[in-house]
Amino acid sequence: MSSVDEIKARLDILDIVSEDVQLKKSGRHYMGYCPFHNNTRSPAFAVFPESGTWKCFGACADGGDIFSYVMKKNGWDFKEALTQLAARAGVTLEKLSPEQAQRKSLEEEQTELLEAAADYFHQLYLYAPQAKHAREYIAGRELTDETVSTFKIGFGLNAWDALRSHFMNQGYSEQDLLDAGLLTENTDKGTTYDRFRNRIIIPIKDHNGRTVGFGARTLEKDGIPKYLNSPQTGLFDKSRILFGLDASKRFIREARQAVIVEGYMDVIMAWQGGFRNVVAQMGTALTRDQLQLLKKYTKRFVIALDADAAGVNATMRSLTVARETLDRDSEIRFDPSGLVREESRLSADIRIASIPEGEDPDSIIRNDPAEWAKLIGGAKPVVEYVTSVLIEQMPIDDPKNKSTIAQQVIPMILDINDPLERDHYWQFLARTLQVEERSLRQLNIKQQRKNSGQRPVVQAKSKQPAMPEPPPTIDGRPNGGIPDPTQRTKRRETEFLGRCAHNPLLIRQVNKILSDNGQAILHAQDFSIQIDREIFLLINNKQSSGEVATSGQMWDSLDEVLAERLKVISKETINSDKKPSRSLALSVLQWRAEKKKQLLTEFQQMLRTAKFNGENQSLEALAQQVESLSVEIKEIDHAKMGISSRSKHRYAHKW
Ligand code: GTP
Ligand code: MN
Repeated sequence: MSSVDEIKARLDILDIVSEDVQLKKSGRHYMGYCPFHNNTRSPAFAVFPESGTWKCFGACADGGDIFSYVMKKNGWDFKEALTQLAARAGVTLEKLSPEQAQRKSLEEEQTELLEAAADYFHQLYLYAPQAKHAREYIAGRELTDETVSTFKIGFGLNAWDALRSHFMNQGYSEQDLLDAGLLTENTDKGTTYDRFRNRIIIPIKDHNGRTVGFGARTLEKDGIPKYLNSPQTGLFDKSRILFGLDASKRFIREARQAVIVEGYMDVIMAWQGGFRNVVAQMGTALTRDQLQLLKKYTKRFVIALDADAAGVNATMRSLTVARETLDRDSEIRFDPSGLVREESRLSADIRIASIPEGEDPDSIIRNDPAEWAKLIGGAKPVVEYVTSVLIEQMPIDDPKNKSTIAQQVIPMILDINDPLERDHYWQFLARTLQVEERSLRQLNIKQQRKNSGQRPVVQAKSKQPAMPEPPPTIDGRPNGGIPDPTQRTKRRETEFLGRCAHNPLLIRQVNKILSDNGQAILHAQDFSIQIDREIFLLINNKQSSGEVATSGQMWDSLDEVLAERLKVISKETINSDKKPSRSLALSVLQWRAEKKKQLLTEFQQMLRTAKFNGENQSLEALAQQVESLSVEIKEIDHAKMGISSRSKHRYAHKW
């Protein structure tokens, strides 16, 4: 049995869910109030102990297995869920390779030391007489005792050899302390001394909550540097870490929005003020790695950097990085000449909050939390922000500037998903630059011709208008979790994944067929079990980043547990015949329909039970579910017919 199956076999989903939700038995399943959305009137959260699955039939309409549950509940990624559940189930995970194991144990030793150092600094801050001025400083910044303890604020003594002798007395070597970035080396004299002296110490954690370094603020007026960070180590790489993410990730998921600020104190004060979906990029512009981390939790961002020149620059650079990093949905468009053009649009929503000059989030929240809420709520869409910054830098009374600005802003307009919104911004830009909208659009066509190497224009195969692309599946808006998928359904999913592992481009082809027929494109939630969702995401990411990997290559980069599952999947499909993408698309629709039918049966049964028990509050919601499932099933059947008949039709007319 694989470790994932073993964990599932040993743990009872009822135990796990019951820790957060009060469940009541109702027929074969259990019901409670959904922990993921504001659900108080009628219980919308169902747990099916036989299949080990859960499903919310209310607002969040999500579902899955125990892995998806703990991931969603705690904001964990799959790896974290695996580690935690394995420990709980007493399952030992597969062994790592010797190099991996060595690296891991080194890292573990280092984080252990860093955590001990964080405790050491924190104790000094709380109790040392020499830290009196530090405590006064923090009191002056109005941090509460609770905040100090939540962030484990610390203090480094004003001495060269305090930390060093403390930890060497405990058996750590000088090299250990150097490697962890706690000492600084004087290479001339060959001596070492404490790195963080007479500073407020802020422990920095990675998104899994491991302490990886420190940011240390001077207590001297105009002390230089203002913040001294840990040096770059294997563990601490500022460009891969967002300060606060370990604590804020579940709030980011809940709020469906991440607010990005500049500094440590901004995050800390925001947390204290009750704004918990906040992270800091620690002074620099956002990096690709930071965005990759963040987009696992949401694709809606508000950038709230300081209003000074450095902040504006960092914002502009962050926007460029964001446009390059975030996923794009592609949209097939038909222009009047009958050409098909594939355009990619950003599947993310980025806004910029205007912080008044001379203020930062820390000072705003300290003075008036309501003001902060207003600033975030009123954050400007990218196009408006960038246009106003550029106009500030390049006054438009010079016509040349108009053109320069337009060329920078137009790509951002083209990024917008919603066609009406896009139109709105064409008008906005024309109005703002005081030019004709027509001329702007002509400029765009010229730009596109220039770039046509990157944006292929192909002859239309059919005059049929394209179906609108389904709404972006931001925040994992699910197609529905699935209680007890039948073996047949599961086999279809496995077979499909196996084919895509061999040929990732199939995902694209199948998506095109699905969306042409009015159906949602493939989504992680199409797969019944969490580990298959992970594998799908992996293949899909490779595919959409244009990186085509064979399954062999993919194993190299995978964690043991995923690799194990991928091997099983590949074995099951290796002998089956090659199927064209069309029949794969049919297979996807087939399993979607099977699951929905099964869910329909469950819901009908729940409806009967609710009627029988007189649970009147649930009746309406359940009846609504039954009705919309029936409609969805009809739509899938319709799409299936469309695909099989259109394929005949297409081939018949081929010339
Ligand atoms: P306070 O003055 O304590 O309110 O700090 P702040 O968070 O408002 O700092 P500021 O706006 O000056 O800088 C924002 C962030 O940039 C800080 O939180 C740090 O992460 C980083 N930063 C600022 N100064 C330095 C520095 O001198 N060195 C380094 N490495 N980072 C800095
Ligand atoms: Mn500040």
